[in-house]
Amino acid sequence: MSSLLAEKKILFGITGSIAIYKTVDWIRSLVKEEAQVKVVMTEAATRFVTGLTFAALSGNRVYESMFDPLDQELIPHINLAREADLILIAPATAQTIARLAHGLAEDLLSAIVLASRAKIMICPTMNSQMYNHPATKQNLATLKKYGYTVIEPESGLMACGEEGPGRLPEWPMVHKKILESFTPQDLRDKSILITAGPTHEPIDPVRFLGNRSSGKMGYALAATASRRGADVTLVSGPVNLAPLPGVKTIQVKTAREMHHEVLNCFNDADIVIKAAAVADFRPEIEADQKIKKSDSATSLNLIPNPDILFELGQLRKTRKKPLVLVGFAAESDNHLEEGRRKLKEKNLDLLAINDIMAADSGFDVDTNRITLLSRNGGEEELPLLSKEETAMRIWDQVVKL
Ligand code: CTP
Repeated sequence: MSSLLAEKKILFGITGSIAIYKTVDWIRSLVKEEAQVKVVMTEAATRFVTGLTFAALSGNRVYESMFDPLDQELIPHINLAREADLILIAPATAQTIARLAHGLAEDLLSAIVLASRAKIMICPTMNSQMYNHPATKQNLATLKKYGYTVIEPESGLMACGEEGPGRLPEWPMVHKKILESFTPQDLRDKSILITAGPTHEPIDPVRFLGNRSSGKMGYALAATASRRGADVTLVSGPVNLAPLPGVKTIQVKTAREMHHEVLNCFNDADIVIKAAAVADFRPEIEADQKIKKSDSATSLNLIPNPDILFELGQLRKTRKKPLVLVGFAAESDNHLEEGRRKLKEKNLDLLAINDIMAADSGFDVDTNRITLLSRNGGEEELPLLSKEETAMRIWDQVVKL
């Protein structure tokens, strides 16, 4: 399965800040995703770490100077500027930011930036007084005017002992911005509501009825929609997945809680995708105390939960704002027939059927093999893909709608 960053040429500019140590892991992650990373260090950066670390991790030589008499490449700044798809400068000191804002080209990194047509991404990292100084603010505003992406620093305790904005952001946020820069922004300004994961229906304080949904498909949909520019709200059942940067996530446990949250957000949404595996039934009684063996209860009375998607399909009939409504169907038998029935009964535009009996699709695996059915009779069988790639294909269809 190919990575979005495969073969992408990323020039990683590193400037003199104590936060450098964090970027060591970033380079590892980029290389793991098959990006071709070349590191350029400013002279100040080399006072903190030697280039050897980055050379070993990136698998490429590290560039430190514009005028190296032993250098085989006669004009490295032009070659590096030309070949890069993305220039990421992290950490970016106040000094480098000032240089870039004023178009100075006195060191290799700033000369490359000036000579490049690549996308440029900057992570300002410095003491918060320096960050809040009007000169830095103005310089950053200038960089934004040039079309550079400035990733806001995080606030918190810094190496200098002060607290405030100026910390290097965490990798998941920067990683998301990098992926975003290579992704068409065709869901920009769309408000998207996604549900994910299982629901847990309590029996007593220690037990519940649940299902094997891992939430991976719903989370992949949320991550990729956000990457494509959408404003995403994720209503998530109990899962073991890391929170997604830039995605508003509402945690729920039961089908009724999910029902409540989804209805709350429904009116604002342009697109709703229900990837959650909602329990159709819940125990009629939730015991206040743990049920004991000696209670000799041998059967559970179940009552139906609301069918959330069905309700949305009804509500859309009177809604003025246009809506794209997408459902999932987990099937073990008669896939297409069952899918068509659900598409119609739930009044959907699109339905993704997954075969839960196949080992490589369905619950708790990283891949999926789905068939997409559309309201107008369309049918598309997708190959075995990662859940992320599957999500991207679903968005392609939604964008067409
Ligand atoms: N769904 C829902 N609320 C429920 C049950 C299902 O919103 N109480 C949604 C799911 O999120 C999914 C779609 O309906 O998008 C289909 O779910 P699925 O479990 O496949 O179908 P069911 O409606 O439960 O039908 P059946 O039990 O006949 O398979």
